[in-house]
Amino acid sequence: MTEPREPESYFSDERTDSTSHPAPPPPRPQQPGYDPNLPPLQQQYGQPQYPYPPLPQPSRPRHAAPERAVRPPKRVPQSGWRKAVYLASGKLINPGESPQEQRQRELVARVNQPLRGCFRIAMLSLKGGVGKTTITTTLGSTFAALRGDRVIAVDANPDRGTLSQKIPIETTATVRHLLRDADKITRYSDVRAYTSQGSSRLEILASEQDPAVSEAFSESDYLRTVNLLEHFYNIVLTDCGTGLMHSAMKGVLDAADALVVVSSGSVDGSRSASATLDWLDAHGYGDLVKRSVTVINSVRPKAGSVDLDKLAAHFAARTRAVCRIPFDPHLEEGAEIELERLTPETRMALLELAATMADAFPGKR
Ligand SMILES: Nc1ncnc2c1ncn2[C@@H]1O[C@H](COP(=O)(O)OP(=O)(O)OP(=O)(O)O)[C@@H](O)[C@H]1O
Ligand SMILES: [Mg+2]
Repeated sequence: MTEPREPESYFSDERTDSTSHPAPPPPRPQQPGYDPNLPPLQQQYGQPQYPYPPLPQPSRPRHAAPERAVRPPKRVPQSGWRKAVYLASGKLINPGESPQEQRQRELVARVNQPLRGCFRIAMLSLKGGVGKTTITTTLGSTFAALRGDRVIAVDANPDRGTLSQKIPIETTATVRHLLRDADKITRYSDVRAYTSQGSSRLEILASEQDPAVSEAFSESDYLRTVNLLEHFYNIVLTDCGTGLMHSAMKGVLDAADALVVVSSGSVDGSRSASATLDWLDAHGYGDLVKRSVTVINSVRPKAGSVDLDKLAAHFAARTRAVCRIPFDPHLEEGAEIELERLTPETRMALLELAATMADAFPGKR
């Protein structure tokens, strides 16, 4: 994997052009990767952008030496009866965090694992409409909202990809424009002029909307795009089309560090996801199959007669992990996605998915 280029200029927010593209965002961390010195995300991005309940740090005793002799203070509960007891007792009785709050804290820590270089995740499925674009956006948004580094999602869909419809549009530029101007791109602010950014800080690079032009988006075009992006972003997600044979797909598979195979909770959806894995195995991507995560995405409110546990067990035997995303009324709208509008169950499921993906980051602690 190529390391990110170090010259200061890549991370400078100095802007050199004055094109019609929107102004670049406020200053970002100057180095890629998680920076433990940054203030908590709640402070950096404000509460509205951060859809998970705040998790305050416990106050430390002033004279804590020797440290091991001091039992760490219980964390303050943030919800439910525990919080009520804590407040009603004038903060004298602290029942501690609920198991759910502890679980959330553990998942957030896993999502925030340090990452050296760039991690590339591709979303795949042979069947259309199972939620590839939805999962690309929500997984990318979860990473972007929680981590201090940069996250981008690329639309590699040859037939009028819908990724750019999932966040407010800031530019009409597409991947074609980025490739056309690639020679002039040396700073983050240069590449930012070609992307749109959502409230979670996830950026999106749109595909060409004319199917004739976008079909010509080749394997080498994709690889050039990703090679450019990996200098500026720490996580690159690629939303693929349904065809495994479309022009950019070989590039997507060759460049991917991890795959997310998306299945709906229906029989035909899961058959297609299985067929996707068979195809990958048969075409020399067996290693990638082992590194892939299956997402069972409930695009319908009811599972019907399908036993989702059996489905999960089937994919658990073939892929590294299985995550389930519940049906969510906000996702069903098929419009712009804001994490704050998802149900707590969906946000927790996305946190699980992001933590599972982050477990595969190279160079962890
Ligand atoms: N978890 C969910 N809950 C409710 N509805 C969902 C969920 N995931 C997806 N949907 C619905 O399914 C539709 C299709 O999802 P999406 O566009 O992400 O699929 P896709 O696999 O990218 O499709 P295509 O193959 O056409 O690109 C969405 O517009 C939305 O209405
Ligand atoms: Mg799609």
